[in-house]
Amino acid sequence: MNIDKILGELTLEEKAALCSGMDFWHTQNIERLDIPPVMVSDGPHGLRKMADDGENPNDSIKAVCFPTAAALACSFDRELLETLGKALGEECAAEKVTVILGPGCNIKRSPLCGRNFEYFSEDPYLAGQMAASHIKGVQSKGIGTSLKHFAMNNQETRRMSCSAEVDERTFRELYLAAFEAPVKESKPWTVMCSYNRINGVYSSQNKYLLTDILRDDWGYEGLVMSDWGAVDDRPLGIEAGLDLEMPTSNGKNDVLIVEAVNSGKLSMESLDRCVRRVLELINRAEEADSTAVWDKEKHHQLAAKIAAECAVLLKNDDNILPLDASKKIAFIGEFAQKPRFQGGGSSHINSFKITSALDAVAEYADVTYAQGFITSEDKTDEKLLAEAVEAAKKSDIAVIFAGLPDSFESEGFDRRHMRMPECQLELIRRVREVNENIVIVLHNGSPIEMPFADDAKALLEMYLGGQAVGQAECDLLFGKVSPSGKLAETFPEYLEQNPSYLNFPGQEDTVRYAEGLYVGYKYYEKKRVKPLFPFGHGLSYSSFEYSDLTVSENEIDDSKVLTVMVTVKNTGKVTAKETVQLYVAPVEPVVDRPLKELKGFEKLELKAGESKKAVFKLDKRAFAYYETKISDWYAEDGRYRIMVGASSADIRLSTEVYYTNETPLPMHFDLNSLCGEIKAVPEAAQVFGDIFKKIDIGNGEDEASEAMSQEMIDNMIKDMPLRTLVTFTDVPEITRANIQATLDDLNSLLSKKYEKAASKTI
Ligand code: BGC
Repeated sequence: MNIDKILGELTLEEKAALCSGMDFWHTQNIERLDIPPVMVSDGPHGLRKMADDGENPNDSIKAVCFPTAAALACSFDRELLETLGKALGEECAAEKVTVILGPGCNIKRSPLCGRNFEYFSEDPYLAGQMAASHIKGVQSKGIGTSLKHFAMNNQETRRMSCSAEVDERTFRELYLAAFEAPVKESKPWTVMCSYNRINGVYSSQNKYLLTDILRDDWGYEGLVMSDWGAVDDRPLGIEAGLDLEMPTSNGKNDVLIVEAVNSGKLSMESLDRCVRRVLELINRAEEADSTAVWDKEKHHQLAAKIAAECAVLLKNDDNILPLDASKKIAFIGEFAQKPRFQGGGSSHINSFKITSALDAVAEYADVTYAQGFITSEDKTDEKLLAEAVEAAKKSDIAVIFAGLPDSFESEGFDRRHMRMPECQLELIRRVREVNENIVIVLHNGSPIEMPFADDAKALLEMYLGGQAVGQAECDLLFGKVSPSGKLAETFPEYLEQNPSYLNFPGQEDTVRYAEGLYVGYKYYEKKRVKPLFPFGHGLSYSSFEYSDLTVSENEIDDSKVLTVMVTVKNTGKVTAKETVQLYVAPVEPVVDRPLKELKGFEKLELKAGESKKAVFKLDKRAFAYYETKISDWYAEDGRYRIMVGASSADIRLSTEVYYTNETPLPMHFDLNSLCGEIKAVPEAAQVFGDIFKKIDIGNGEDEASEAMSQEMIDNMIKDMPLRTLVTFTDVPEITRANIQATLDDLNSLLSKKYEKAASKTI
């Protein structure tokens, strides 16, 4: 399709129509000009394509449910995410779906967000890397993705209206950074804007978000579509950079677009820009392999493999795992038979097959089974409980399959607490009374409180592990695979520990992100709050030794890329994988910085006794923070610590490098600048030297001076605005006019110095 030609032939009404969907899942077609519709479908961890004979838009075809994003991120494995993406891409190509709606990479701000299971991490670097790999995989098959929900959609409560109030630095460093890497590295065909407002402005008509940042700063060239029903003012959205409204507005917004163009409120140029992007997307539908077929059974096996790579072994006392198959083992809990493996809402997959642990265990051992509890309501069933206790009593080891039922977490609402159902807690307590060898396998989309953590010998976190989760569970429990997942989020001990607790989910349509940068481990570390399990934590059936941490240079600057290497040796008895995590922090930061931030990770597979090197590349961005004074990333001059370890709380080796940054930040002083601020800058202190010399506060012999310590005087002067020098002293030369003139001299000197340095580095 020749887009320039078509743009010339389309009527205003047809252009307006192309700016929203034809129905729930298709873009608008224009028969007259042979413009076909293309289909989009959810996503993200499976294909939810509406069935041809479906009665409502949510009736979907049978497909494969892979592990959800919360689980996937624990793999810390870019290749694995790419493999998953390729499988999804194949399915879409075979099913004639042009865009699969996902991945979602919103930051997990609170463990309560009902949709956390669909998001990757509390850390923007990890979330961004996972999303980038997922997109790369899907798009390698000629299928588009929709990176969502851009941005600040970190809760479900009032998700369609609430305003996320966030400061610029936090916005850039945390919430936007998770989107920035996938946008720049993997170029998703589409980005889906969020429902909510950001600092008062709906994302769907937020020019700062959709054009200034996404396109102008990050260079994005694809299409922006709305989340389903996220449009408030369609013409404003077109002006702001929202190309496609989904689903159809039933023609209502077409009328408004036409009116806005006719009245001159909306330019034809802006409308054409959106239509062009819609047409470009339609053109891209041809990139898919039209002969593609997909093998459901093969993808089911892949789902099992992925789930095993994602599971996190939180605890393993006495090496109770892997299980000894010759022992008497009881599987207890309804989730052994009917695992909870996905969340509710738009990502819900119509699984063609489900493998539970009970289905899969036959290949490993004979186990007894007791249901123990029911998930339909949180009520202890005395009969089931008694059976479970009996089974546990007769066994050497009791493996309890527990977690959150569907009613506890879903798209559309947030959790109110982090507790598991009381009937399950009761079951665990009662089983523990008769058997001390308890292993708990967890199924949940987001952190839970674990009052049973000390009572269980082993805890295996499966998250929502997809339809083949039972196979993965048995492969892990019996040692065919060594667990290698690491937590992509902190598990607080209890909800109130979480930094967002006082401001979640906000009030009256506003939620203040008052904790700023301190989300997840950044908060727990700085406040020295010990969580239940830290970010990056995860055990293995093997053990690893770290050695030889080296850096390619000791001094770096904005233009250099630092190579960091570390050797990891498998010192255990089985083949296993280790995720090596790299964190960076300035040693003596001038601005507020977290104690450490994840800036690299590598997953290594090692045979028993084998050693390999993990290699990391760090550029300016790994050292920088977002400096609002220059609206850019900035790395302070000084020493930085490079830390390498097995979790955020288990740093094995560290070293330091010196970052040289000769570019000063722009500075400007006025009458309200403090004397201390002036004194701290050598040029400023010099220019103001004469004035400061003339002031003699506290040096007199009077009573007032005697009552003041020198420290107090110094501090008082430090915090005094320049303007007070005029009123607090009676030195004739110290007038407002004189101080202003000195300030003018200083500001001109500083701006010349900044321009000179900046021009050198550009
Ligand atoms: C969800 C999106 C989803 C869309 C289509 C919305 O309610 O927020 O994530 O892709 O529906 O189902």
